[in-house]
Amino acid sequence: MTNEWWRSAVIYQVYPRSFADASGDGVGDLAGITSRLDHLRDLGIDVVWLSPFMTSPQKDAGYDVSDYRDVDPLFGTLDDFDALIARAHGLDLRVIVDLVPNHSSDQHPWFQEALASEPGSAARGRYMFREGDGDQPPNNWQSVFGGPAWTRVADGQWYLHLFDASQPDFDWSNDEVRADFRTTLRFWLDRGADGFRVDVAHGLVKADGLPDYTPPEDADSMGGAEPVPYWGQDGVHDVYREWHAVLGEYEGDRVLCAEAWMPTVGEIAKWVRPDEMHQAFNFSYLMSEWDADGLRGVIDDSLAAFGAVGAPSTWVLSNHDVIRHATRLALGDESPQGHGIGPTSLGIPDTAFALRRGNAATAVMLALPGSAYIYQGEELGLPEVIDIPDDARQDPTWFRTNGERYGRDGCRVPIPWSAASPAFGFSETGASWLPQPDSWAAYARDAQAGIDGSTLELYRALLRLRRERGLGKGGLEWLESPAGTLSFRNGDVTVLANVSADPVDLPAGRVLAASGPLPDGRLPSDTTVWVG
Ligand code: NOJ
Repeated sequence: MTNEWWRSAVIYQVYPRSFADASGDGVGDLAGITSRLDHLRDLGIDVVWLSPFMTSPQKDAGYDVSDYRDVDPLFGTLDDFDALIARAHGLDLRVIVDLVPNHSSDQHPWFQEALASEPGSAARGRYMFREGDGDQPPNNWQSVFGGPAWTRVADGQWYLHLFDASQPDFDWSNDEVRADFRTTLRFWLDRGADGFRVDVAHGLVKADGLPDYTPPEDADSMGGAEPVPYWGQDGVHDVYREWHAVLGEYEGDRVLCAEAWMPTVGEIAKWVRPDEMHQAFNFSYLMSEWDADGLRGVIDDSLAAFGAVGAPSTWVLSNHDVIRHATRLALGDESPQGHGIGPTSLGIPDTAFALRRGNAATAVMLALPGSAYIYQGEELGLPEVIDIPDDARQDPTWFRTNGERYGRDGCRVPIPWSAASPAFGFSETGASWLPQPDSWAAYARDAQAGIDGSTLELYRALLRLRRERGLGKGGLEWLESPAGTLSFRNGDVTVLANVSADPVDLPAGRVLAASGPLPDGRLPSDTTVWVG
């Protein structure tokens, strides 16, 4: 029986390091997640996506895997994973596992074997080893985290790493690599995983001959708009056709979700053609500014592009790689979105103003048909943490750019559960791998639960209405609305978002939810209302 739940699901991203720490070492873990799953059920989400918890030296917070079929002791054991799945399924929540196929850790036994083997050996053939050009690397590619994408080994060869030097890229033309990942898929599917979020799903295959590539000046760290020899090569799609078939061997709807940072939704939609993946993150939506015309454009483009291949649109505003949207949408132009923000950044908005805007954006997103992603802590209205001391920072971006880019630590700070507990309830011992700001007492879950007007209660109300009114499975019809606003109907719910500077009249009907106060019965700036 298939019900294609993923077409309308709300998927909640758990970043295991920062969710809940049962062991008390200051890093979150699987047992911590299991103990808090009832809160997620109560929030009203459908699926939990777990960022990587496999064995890893943690050079890139787990996106550097040294054993794809085990749990890192930092996060627990396979038994803890089984317990998590059992509890989640008992609560009617599905679980998606993060899989990192573009690269392994340099501590993966295969890479260690490659280092100990001759150039040209089968062991080197699983990765991208090449001869250099004299003393120079094989080409001019730069790592996404800054600096060259090649590192030289003792015998003079170079290996490719699109990310950190501790993350060597696999060679996906190698049959052993392909077979091993099919084994990994089956390993987690056999243990009950409902699917995979696939990391760097656009990167696995590189253009023949590895031609030089210089990104345009204005490109973000993922490259430019023109074809890039390491992103979106046709061959990657064959890999996902194989994986689609593997998932098809299993009962129930198991899914693949692509992290494919391509420049347009039209290109992203190639990952969700009928025999490939089921969902792809809508990064065009995530990158959109708080602007009525821009939002309308990207919503239309998304529905058209995903619809054309029979896939649901997805919607996402925050994740563990970007500035939290309760800060980002109100940032000044001085702060480039892709580089993170910190104490020396300019254009940092007032927190309350930025949260208002963030919540208004959430209320637009959760009314859209398709599947939506929520990143842990956004339901608490958490802002990006800006004042992390330099010596506490952990993101490889920070190190590889010598502190020029702050990177992503500011959205990864452990989340607050209770205002009066050590580490705000994240860890009983009070330990926390990144420092939590004192101001987070006010954001703690127990400080917001049951409080009218809190961000937590807003998310709960929106998610309940979304479910009751079937908005995920609905459709979108644009409505006429005052300049600088955005209005649409989905089923029997009318949405009006005020993206302009001035208050406007409310639409006719009963207010079902509002992202902020409605003084004088009008809709103020940076506020969204659902009426029905
Ligand atoms: C994308 C992940 O979301 C990010 O956190 C990671 O650093 C890179 N891929 C490399 O795996």
